[in-house]
Amino acid sequence: MNKMLTLSLATGLLLPLAAAAAAAAARFDGNLNFASPSRRHASLGIDVPHVSRRSLKRGAVALAPDELGFTHGVASGDPYADSVVLWTRVAPSRESDASNVTVEGPVPLYSHETQSYIDADASPVCVEWRVWENGTGDGGGGVVARGDAYTTSDIDYTVKVEATGLQPFTTYNYQFTICGSSKTSPVGRTKTAPLADVDVPELRFAVFSCSNYPNGYFNAYGNAARKDEQDYMVHLGDYIYEGNAKGERAHAPPKYLFSLHDYRTRHGQYRTDPDLQLASQNFAWITTWDDHEVSNNGYRDGSSALNNTEDSFRKDGGVSVDQRKMNAVRAYFEWMPIRQVDLDDNLRVWRNFQMGNLLDFIVLDTRNYDRSITSLDWNDNYIDLIRNDASRTLMGSHQENWFYNQLSKSQDRGATWRIIGNQIVFSHIVESYGYGGDNWNGYQANRNRTLKHLYDNNITNTIFLAGDSHQNWVSDLAWLDEKPYDSTTGEGSVGVEFAGTAVSSTGFSGLIAPGRTEAKYRVGNNSVLQWQDGYYRGYFLLSVTPNKLDARYYGSPSVASRNAWDLPLANFTVFAGENRLARPVGGGSVEAGFLRGGKTNPTNVTLNTDTQKWDIVGYNQMYIVT
Ligand SMILES: *[C@@H]1O[C@H](CO)[C@@H](O)[C@H](O)[C@H]1NC(C)=O
Ligand SMILES: *[C@@H]1O[C@H](CO)[C@@H](O)[C@H](O)[C@H]1NC(C)=O
Ligand SMILES: *[C@@H]1O[C@H](CO)[C@@H](O)[C@H](O)[C@H]1NC(C)=O
Ligand SMILES: *[C@@H]1O[C@H](CO)[C@@H](O)[C@H](O)[C@H]1NC(C)=O
Ligand SMILES: *[C@@H]1O[C@H](CO)[C@@H](O)[C@H](O)[C@H]1NC(C)=O
Ligand SMILES: *[C@@H]1O[C@H](CO)[C@@H](O)[C@H](O)[C@H]1NC(C)=O
Repeated sequence: MNKMLTLSLATGLLLPLAAAAAAAAARFDGNLNFASPSRRHASLGIDVPHVSRRSLKRGAVALAPDELGFTHGVASGDPYADSVVLWTRVAPSRESDASNVTVEGPVPLYSHETQSYIDADASPVCVEWRVWENGTGDGGGGVVARGDAYTTSDIDYTVKVEATGLQPFTTYNYQFTICGSSKTSPVGRTKTAPLADVDVPELRFAVFSCSNYPNGYFNAYGNAARKDEQDYMVHLGDYIYEGNAKGERAHAPPKYLFSLHDYRTRHGQYRTDPDLQLASQNFAWITTWDDHEVSNNGYRDGSSALNNTEDSFRKDGGVSVDQRKMNAVRAYFEWMPIRQVDLDDNLRVWRNFQMGNLLDFIVLDTRNYDRSITSLDWNDNYIDLIRNDASRTLMGSHQENWFYNQLSKSQDRGATWRIIGNQIVFSHIVESYGYGGDNWNGYQANRNRTLKHLYDNNITNTIFLAGDSHQNWVSDLAWLDEKPYDSTTGEGSVGVEFAGTAVSSTGFSGLIAPGRTEAKYRVGNNSVLQWQDGYYRGYFLLSVTPNKLDARYYGSPSVASRNAWDLPLANFTVFAGENRLARPVGGGSVEAGFLRGGKTNPTNVTLNTDTQKWDIVGYNQMYIVT
């Protein structure tokens, strides 16, 4: 009797607590960033039970809705047929939180606005989210998915949720609300992927790379978002830069990035850009990183700015190369609408998207995952000696095997196209100074293995995408000196590479005319290269159908101001089954750069002989910035 009474008393006391803890756990689980990027990595995972206990402590104070704001808009990404990742940030301050990782005891919340600690024991912030099919309205009936999630300072108040149970290839709207209030985020728009095994008439992608905030305005993002001609946005890396540039759009924090707080602050600064916000709010993104999300010319063990030695524990950074990389990785996962496809592998961003019978979109990490030593400025002679060494790899054997398997599986499942979201220029291209060491030229054996896999297995319709170089390069994909290739007809080619210029990072610095001469030399010296342009910043649009793939290149003639000039530069077609650029390449005529065997007819710009600068023709017909 006594025993039973004790038991029921104990149960009566314990149950509500346990239930509260379970509910809290569910809502911590609702935010993917509490497992970001890895639960099992000691310095990366968040101790959720600890955060939960902290927040349930007596004296824990909830931040009121009017102390909170949606500070950086909304974003979505990694579309699957039945789900998509939604992102926002709801915080007491636009500034990133100074706490680096979960520590024992309460994490102080520091407000840079008030220069004081807000509340040592603040409760988690609760947000609700809901998704409705576009046009059906956000009230009750139209909502097809909803949930709630917590966020805390431990993850810089970011919120990343997976909306599941969605219909394939459908446009949805979504919105976040602070629980128990009417305070809402902007309404986002996103789109799921088609089912893997259905016919899809067309898929369109806008492809970006190298968005350096201090280097210029993000006109490319704004123009593509306003034109609204793509299903999905792709970013091939260098989404942020780690440097310390000054000027009109000076970097914040005003220093090289080392700590988690540094990287968070930098991501936050980029996300204040109105063109990036517009593009984030209205499209689902597929992103991968290159070097600058961590550090210039990075590889497995270091980067050009910091050798992996004891000296790398520098006074300005105070963190090791490894810790710095982990800080960058963690901030990236917190701030980007990206899935974690393998929670045991915190560096993994390589992943695949099956989109109908039409295509596989294979995303690589040639940079941070497992790359052998790269060009570090002081070691170029050494890289020259080893560039053809058979052991060198850009991806590491784990990823490389996966990559070749994805190519084969994609062909085996009958997908028409294989599109590879890769960072660096793949094609065999020699420059006036020789071969680059930081792109695929520095890793010839890896390039050979890739080409061999394509040739040996008769893998067709392979399209490499690339960024990184801040210039446009369009090439047939051929294994020079090993397999026959005819530059005029494209005979012998196994695919096509579309490499794109930067959103804003500096490219060829000079006027249009010398830029064209440079492009002409490059085409003249490289048989695979069919079109080159280094003058414009911009992006390209890919339209993929069962019969053909079109790439349309657009240029922003100036990123010195926020403007809507969106010049069409060149168009290319690849017919399914041909594995080369359709001839005449570029339809025989482009508006910028140099085209092999074709003409450059600039109808949108004229050279002003007085100023030696360009005049833009008819820009008033273009999209107006609002
Ligand atoms: C989404 O819905 C809004 C409001 O009904 C409509 O104006 C807009 O055109 C729709 N957009 C798409 C892509 O369906
Ligand atoms: C890295 O090491 C090399 C070789 O010792 C040296 O030449 C270079 O200056 C070092 N770079 C940095 C940033 O410490
Ligand atoms: C790669 O292929 C090229 C021919 O394109 C050849 O010269 C080179 O030796 C090959 N390298 C390796 C490591 O297989
Ligand atoms: C690839 O195609 C060639 C020529 O049609 C054929 O001889 C070869 O067996 C094919 N290889 C595979 C792996 O299908
Ligand atoms: C190759 O490039 C050099 C300069 O880098 C140039 O002088 C030469 O004319 C180019 N060759 C061709 C065929 O364009
Ligand atoms: C490329 O195609 C687009 C859309 O059809 C067109 O507006 C543009 O003028 C074309 N550009 C060139 C350089 O042919």
